[in-house]
Order: sequence, then structure tokens, then C-alpha cells
Amino acid sequence: MTHSEIREKFLKFFESKGHKIVPSSSLLPTDPSVLFTTAGMQQFKPYYTGEADAMKDFGSLNTVSIQKSMRTSDIDEVGDESHLTFFEMLGNFSFGGYWKEAAIAWAHDFITRELGLKIDYVTVFEGLPSANVPADEESELLWKEVDPKIIVKRASIQDNFWGPTGSEGPCGPTTEIYVDGVEIWNIVFNEFFYPGSREELLNGKSDKNLENLKTAGIDTGMGLERLAMVVQRKKNIFETDLFEPIINSLPNHFDLRTKRVIADHSRAMVFLASEGVTPSNKEQGYVMRRLMRRIMALNISNDIIDQVINTYASRYPELLVRRNEILTVYSEELNKFNKTLRNGLNELKRLEAVDAHSAFKLYESFGLPYELIKDISKDKAKSLTREAFDEEFKKHQEKSRAGAEKKFGGHGLILDTGELKAGNEEELKKATRLHTATHLLHAALRKVLGAEVHQAGSDITPERLRFDFNFTRKLTPEEIKKIEDLANEAVKKDYKVTKEEMAYEDALRSGALAFFRLKYPPKVNVYSVGDFSKELCGGPHVSSTSEVGKIKIVKEEAVSAGVRRIRAIVE
Ligand code: SER
Repeated sequence: MTHSEIREKFLKFFESKGHKIVPSSSLLPTDPSVLFTTAGMQQFKPYYTGEADAMKDFGSLNTVSIQKSMRTSDIDEVGDESHLTFFEMLGNFSFGGYWKEAAIAWAHDFITRELGLKIDYVTVFEGLPSANVPADEESELLWKEVDPKIIVKRASIQDNFWGPTGSEGPCGPTTEIYVDGVEIWNIVFNEFFYPGSREELLNGKSDKNLENLKTAGIDTGMGLERLAMVVQRKKNIFETDLFEPIINSLPNHFDLRTKRVIADHSRAMVFLASEGVTPSNKEQGYVMRRLMRRIMALNISNDIIDQVINTYASRYPELLVRRNEILTVYSEELNKFNKTLRNGLNELKRLEAVDAHSAFKLYESFGLPYELIKDISKDKAKSLTREAFDEEFKKHQEKSRAGAEKKFGGHGLILDTGELKAGNEEELKKATRLHTATHLLHAALRKVLGAEVHQAGSDITPERLRFDFNFTRKLTPEEIKKIEDLANEAVKKDYKVTKEEMAYEDALRSGALAFFRLKYPPKVNVYSVGDFSKELCGGPHVSSTSEVGKIKIVKEEAVSAGVRRIRAIVE
């Protein structure tokens, strides 16, 4: 059975049980408290908490999906037999539709009958008396009902309790299925809501308590790679048809471990690039840079990108559509890397030992990521740990944040939102006009260049606005003119600018644009300009667009791979 057949079988099976097939959500979650989508349930969080209505949105209380996911916590383990950054997760979900009995019976059916596999054993939650959560005897009985001979083991909160993801969310006990010695399916009974993070829940020191969830529901997750491994009877995930073509395309002088790292990182890079992530020193971009530079240090040609795209194009046609953008992101980062790499490697040679401090200096000055320093300097960096490196990174970030506050704070600014700066009332008025102009240009950019264009940064002074957005090529003069014209038409129409306070999730659902790299509070302000533009924003804005004046784009340039910048003024 090929991986494509496994995906299809899974979707069809649950569709036949009344589940609505829902497409994967983005790898970049709308929940600002997490960097990447790590599980299929993330896009469904509001259906468990009662903030959204599954019947209304899907026409069913049950859904099934194959979710693009990314986990970076085990990035240092990649190269062994089982760890990955990017993976796909098969999952069936219910928001008040069915409960443990059906979830267990269907899982058993799918694994044993549909796939013909033998279950070694299953685990159920042993309970947590301190939080008044009893052992999951019900699941134990239900397993015995579907197969009286099945082995059921009990497991602790570390293994058999899911969530919450991010800063709070649905969570609950799990039951897990093991085949050929590996865990392949995690079935979560989301019955609680925890108003804190998983760490707080596990360390038990917080005074927050588990609450009952509005809609108890089912959330299951089964990694496609691992499932393919057991279905295809392979010794590890890298021998499955999801990886074999990619691994086989690599030069033979690499050892197996290195080949696996390249295969994993190139998959992650291609999928991230296809969603508009570009390498940078922050958040998702920083992860991207680390993945890319590790591959680049090994002199891998960009043919690897086509290998990945070929493996996935039938399921993810957007990869083909974005092929050129992905290649551009790769070649631009490669140019940058080549420029600094040689100097960095020379510096590394000169060092007798590499500790966290010198490793961070190498990163800061030459862009050598931690993994690469470890790979190249071997014995010299024996004592270097990820924790110590991250600690240096954090110290550096705190220092530069303090520096930025001092820089702006000392000049008597009356407004400094990070995006908007003004020193007196008059400057504030001008910056406010430019701020509304920024929203108009953002909307116009998307109308002219495509809805996948999104904000990558913004900075407004009383003189000009600066707006960064993801796009991989230079804009033509005609496009610039069209964008300017559209924005100015909106000025002429004298649209009212209105503000509305909403829950973050509702704001996104209403179609308001957000800048996902920002951390938004649960309640946000949404500014609308007629039906021309709608964005999550802290303000301030003019009250109607004629106040903005004539908008003029004065410059268009590249800032980094895949990110363009326009500067504009208002007259
Ligand atoms: N949320 C659970 C997991 O990711 C089940 O989908 O393992």
C-alpha cells in the first residue's frame, strides 16, 4: 500500500462513518502562542470550547483531516530512526458527535480490518487523583469488548494525557495503539479545558484547575510516516515510499544519518517556503534558516527541492504552483550563506574549543547555526549543549530589546506602538494618516498580487510608511501604479473607518487580516475601511479615508529572500 493509498483509505473510512473531510490548515497557526501547527486538533480548538459551531461550519459534528504538522522539540534527534520535524497527521475528530465507544471501535476496525495489522497492545490513562481524574476504566472495558484478548496497559499523565497546546486549551486522557513495538495512534478524549500551559498542568504547582469542556470530544492523531512504516513492513520511516525517493537521490558519500537529516530538513523547508516563510533571525524564519543552512553546508544542490515536490505534488498541488518561489528562497539564502560561511569556518578553525558564548558569536557574526557548529567542529564542541546556546540567544535578545526601549523611550515619544512612532501631536496626526494608508496599501497589494500576499513587517514615522510583505519578485511599474490607484480610489470614496472589539478567533473567522508574527491578546480590535480593508490592529486611524490624502509609493525593494518592501508617503 503506498502512502497515497493509506491517506485515501483513512479519509474514505471516516467519511463513510459520517465525518466531513476538512483540508489541512496552515503550518503557521492562527493561535499566536504556538510557532507551528503541531497537531490536527489545533484548527478545531474553537469547536471544543464552544466558540464555534461545527454543524454550521462543516454540516457535521465529526470531521476527518490530514494535517501538515511541524514539531521542533526533537530537532537534535533527527537522523535517528524515528524523529522528524515536518510530518503529516491523520486524524478523526468529533465535537459532541460520538464518544469513546465509537472512537475505539472504529480505530480497532481501521487498524485490524482495513490495514490488516495486528495490535501489540493498547494503553489507557491510569488517572490523576490530585486533579480528581480517575483511571480510564471505561476505555479498558471498551477495548475488551472489541477484542477480549487485547492487552491493555495503564500509563501516566506524561504519556497518556494530551494537551493543552499553547497557553491554554482543551485537553484530556488518551488511549494509544501500539503496532510492531511503536505507538501509532493517539486517541484523545478531550473532556477538560485547562486555563494554562501543559507545563503548568504537569508540574502541578499552579493554582489553575481542570474545568469541564463545553463540548467533550474526540481528537485522534496518527503520524502518516510511522503508519506507512508498519503497513509497508519497513524497519524505519526512512525506508518508506515517503522518503526513499528523496534519500536515493542523494550522493552516496553521505552516511545514512546525514541523508536522513537532509531528507527531513528539505521536506520541512519546502513546505514552510510554500506557505511564505522566509529565513530570518526570528521565530518561524529562524527555524527555517537553521534547517536550510544545515543542508546548505553539505553542498546539496537544489534538485532536492524537486524531489520533495514530486513526492507530494499530487496531494499538495500548491507546491508545484509555488515551485519558483521556493527555489528563489533557496538560492537567495544560499548566496547569503556562501558569503559568510567561509569566514565563519575560518574563525571556527582558529578556536581551540567552542563553548556556548563563542558558538553564539559564530551565529551572530557569520550565521552559523548551532547544528552546523556541532556537525563541523565535532570534538571541539563536545561540551556545547543546545540549552547553553539557547541561553546565550535569550540573553542577546533581552539586551537588544532593552536597547530598543532606551532608544525610543529617551526622546519623549508620545506614541510608540512598535509599528508607529510620533513625538508630538502634529507628528501623531501625520503618522495616523500614514497608518490608515498602510491598511489601504495592504488591501490593494493583495487585490493586485494575490490573496496569499501578507504582511511581513511595518514601520511608520511621521515622514513615511514602510510596509514589508512576502513576495518573491520585483513588482513591475504597472503593478505599482495599479496598487497606488486602488488605494487612492479608496481615499476618494471617503470610506468610514470603523473599529470593533472581538474575540481573536472571531476576528480571524470574520476574514480580518492579522500579522501572525505578533502575539495578539484574546480580545482584539478590528479596523474596517468600508468593505475595502479589514485588519486586526491597535490603531490609531483617521475616521474617514479622505483625511489620508494622496498616497504615493516612493520605493519598492527587496529586504530578504521572498520579502519585498514598499515605502510610501501621503500628500
Ligand atoms: N492531539 C493528539 C496528538 O497530536 C491527537 O491528535 O497526538
